[in-house]
Amino acid sequence: VPITSSLTEALAETGERVNAELDSLLTVGDGPEARLHEAMRYSSLNGGKRLRPFFVLQTARLFHVAEQAAIRVAAAIEMVHCYSLVHDDLPCMDNDDLRRGRPTLHKAYDEATALLAGDALLTKAFEVLAGPATHSDPQVRCELVWELAAAAGAHGMVGGQMVDLLAAGLAMDMAAVTRLQQMKTGRLICFSAEAGALLGKAPRQTRNSLRAYAHDVGLAFQIADDLLDIEGDPAQLGKAVHKDQDAGKATFVSLLGVERARDQARMLSDQAVAHLDCFDDNADLLREAARFVVDRSL
Ligand code: IPE
Ligand code: IPE
Ligand code: MG
Ligand code: MG
Ligand code: MG
Repeated sequence: VPITSSLTEALAETGERVNAELDSLLTVGDGPEARLHEAMRYSSLNGGKRLRPFFVLQTARLFHVAEQAAIRVAAAIEMVHCYSLVHDDLPCMDNDDLRRGRPTLHKAYDEATALLAGDALLTKAFEVLAGPATHSDPQVRCELVWELAAAAGAHGMVGGQMVDLLAAGLAMDMAAVTRLQQMKTGRLICFSAEAGALLGKAPRQTRNSLRAYAHDVGLAFQIADDLLDIEGDPAQLGKAVHKDQDAGKATFVSLLGVERARDQARMLSDQAVAHLDCFDDNADLLREAARFVVDRSL
């Protein structure tokens, strides 16, 4: 499946919609705490590929979910993602100065504000999911909260970040790196692709197909991130490169080398597409997205 202008357009449209939603959800108060609110906006209304919102909106479309509902879930997952980036960039973590082409939050503001803005983005995401406008059925809202909490937490993204920090000092083989990346990056992508099915009360089997798709896309996506850390153009990426090797981090690329890592990513992307066989051409953009995540230059 080639990357067509329709995917580029869909990603751009997702960006506009999620920006509008984040803009209306992330209000700025009157008191001195407005500094926190501005910091939350700084770190989330600043570009990004909006890939996770794209997965939510596209899978929601498969089940004819109302756009107003899906966009709230899309905004919620992007808040969690942006929080994870704010904390990932802190001096005590990856110590990065540049994110999405601008100074990282702790550089533009200060470390304490970055910590708090991350906390508040994470919390806000759950407020949004639990709110009545997200779905008329409280059971569905509860399921969304449950799934995102599990994906983002100690056995998901945050757990993966812990392993990532320890990885330099551990003997990591392919199985260990796969597990690390699956936790760190894969789980949030899995949630994003499953969210449409949750909103649409899709049958278990259909949900499982999307999970399988997202599992492979998530791994392919992280391999591409690791490849871009070696080969990418920092101006285009909007973040520093050569960070992983300098930190001694085990990645697919450090284990397999550039060529085999790229082959692995392409194999995973093909496998992801195969998991969508149960869907008609309404899933074509998801098929293209599986290609895009490995061939991307940003
Ligand atoms: C970067 O994520 C961090 C990882 C999980 C690898 P993205 O590449 O999706 O970052 P943005 O949202 O486009 O900035
Ligand atoms: C970050 O992974 C993953 C999360 C924020 C959970 P990286 O540390 O590789 O992301 P970049 O390269 O800084 O975007
Ligand atoms: Mg990191
Ligand atoms: Mg980082
Ligand atoms: Mg990286």
